[in-house]
Amino acid sequence: MSPVGITPLLDRVTSAVSEAIVRVRPDMADADPVVRRSDRADFQSNAALPLAKRAGVPPVGLGGELARCLDTEVIAEVEVSGPGFLNITLADRAVWASVAVRVTDDRLGVPATEERQRVVIDYSAPNVAKEMHVGHLRTTIIGDSLARIFGFLGADVVRANHLGDWGTQFGMLIQYIDEHPESHWHTHELGVGDSSVSALDRLYKAARALFDSDADFADRARTRVVALQAGDPTTVARWREIVAESERAFGAIYDRLGVLLTPDDYVGESFYNDQLDDTVAELLGKGVAVPSDGAVVVLSEQVTGPDDRPAVLMARKRDGGYGYDSTDLATIRYRLAALGADRLLYVTDSRQALHFRLVFETARRAGWLTDAVRVDHVAYGTILGPDGTPFKTRAGGTVRLLDLLDEAEARVRAIVAEKNPDLPQDELDAIARQSGIGAVKYADLSTSRVKDYAFDLTRMTALNGNTGVYLQYAHARVRSILRRTGTTGEVDTAAPLEPAERALALALDNYGAVLGEVAETLEPHRLAGYLYDLARTYTGFYDACPVATAEEPARSNRIALCRLTARTLELGLNQLGIAAPHRM
Ligand code: ARG
Repeated sequence: MSPVGITPLLDRVTSAVSEAIVRVRPDMADADPVVRRSDRADFQSNAALPLAKRAGVPPVGLGGELARCLDTEVIAEVEVSGPGFLNITLADRAVWASVAVRVTDDRLGVPATEERQRVVIDYSAPNVAKEMHVGHLRTTIIGDSLARIFGFLGADVVRANHLGDWGTQFGMLIQYIDEHPESHWHTHELGVGDSSVSALDRLYKAARALFDSDADFADRARTRVVALQAGDPTTVARWREIVAESERAFGAIYDRLGVLLTPDDYVGESFYNDQLDDTVAELLGKGVAVPSDGAVVVLSEQVTGPDDRPAVLMARKRDGGYGYDSTDLATIRYRLAALGADRLLYVTDSRQALHFRLVFETARRAGWLTDAVRVDHVAYGTILGPDGTPFKTRAGGTVRLLDLLDEAEARVRAIVAEKNPDLPQDELDAIARQSGIGAVKYADLSTSRVKDYAFDLTRMTALNGNTGVYLQYAHARVRSILRRTGTTGEVDTAAPLEPAERALALALDNYGAVLGEVAETLEPHRLAGYLYDLARTYTGFYDACPVATAEEPARSNRIALCRLTARTLELGLNQLGIAAPHRM
């Protein structure tokens, strides 16, 4: 283990250029060394241009001075080109040394940069007694990948599954269930393929219909809501049963999806019930919330609605009740004050942007949220159907998550069975599961988060192109090469370095920087894009450089490159929440 990690080559070159700047122009020590990867050499620095402008001297001369002052054993050669660009070539030995250290390190040399940061990630958050549907897919997948990446970077991650487990609808549902003792909804009463949330979802729809058509039932349902809110023991017991059954059904989906969420992560909306009065009182006391027409509201100082009036957050409704806004105010207060979060992420679709903006603004005005804490609404686009409108079933209903996953698995099973007719049934099952789910996850995570995308199983499960299946195959192929070559000696850092080896080693060296970028931008597609490029760079390497038949020390060094590639692909896929089977 090395939580300290090793310094990536890019960072070492960047420091060296910074030091050269200090030597050449001590008065401009703060200048950006602007070091980037380059196709002319390994790296390029454009620092001389802005620096020369500031100093009023010709850039070529300044570039030359910088080049002469670049003093590090990492760099083998510097060439000044054009108006003063520095083309920097690394020492072969430094490149091999990066491979040698990373391949023997548990963390592939990546430092734990988020250590001692408490990051609360609000994700998944389905609603009790309702089926998980396509709308819960993105939050679950994106949130889980961020939880994995922050966890790997050393953060103390709190996975907050903010279940919708409270509201007046539960009074109606409980009343209906009590009046219809023949209703089956407990797991043990249901057949295969049915789940308690599906059953509860059906019962809720029936309750709703009765509520609308039968005034007496509507009255009894309202009385039941009051009983639930007042803590009537039988009503509360019934509610708890419904929550527990729903949690079990969500758990089954989480298992199947392979996400990290467990029952310990469920903190439903009801958890905040006894904090709502205090929260609203505090906001009123601080003058952040104001009474309005019997309700209590927060009027935004930053956002106005279409009518030019301030956007409103409903802290307490006119009837004294609390809704979605109230709960989110109590929730952010709790996460900041009681959990002591350093960073808060809310993974929900972009239609909730205004809601969260107002919640964050209120928390800031109340003094709960300070500049030391970073909050983000991790907003994402909509999943579209083949016709380019939000994804619906053929009958126009919401698409159940379960059906979607079944379909993806069936598709992969058919593809793999055709390719490999002799595969034993259990292996076929395992691959269909891992690659079917992986295909769905990868398609989601490889798309820019804020964009909408079409749910197109044919494209998602393609064997070629930027897909989960392609990457899983690419990883399994490297593993199979490694099985054939067997174990090796150590990396010889004095060995020559072929261009294709160099390109691969530099790509591998960049892994930690990509994770850092994801933590910064909250965009897992940057990791997906990196893995895809890495797989292709590996292909270029394997085409150019024989491994098994090479002479030593090339053979051992190339095997180390293969091993580091396999481990980076596996870790990267796992950080996207995707399995990386060693055989496919
Ligand atoms: N349960 C809500 C839904 O299904 C999402 C809750 C998101 N989290 C939050 N803190 N508001 O749409």
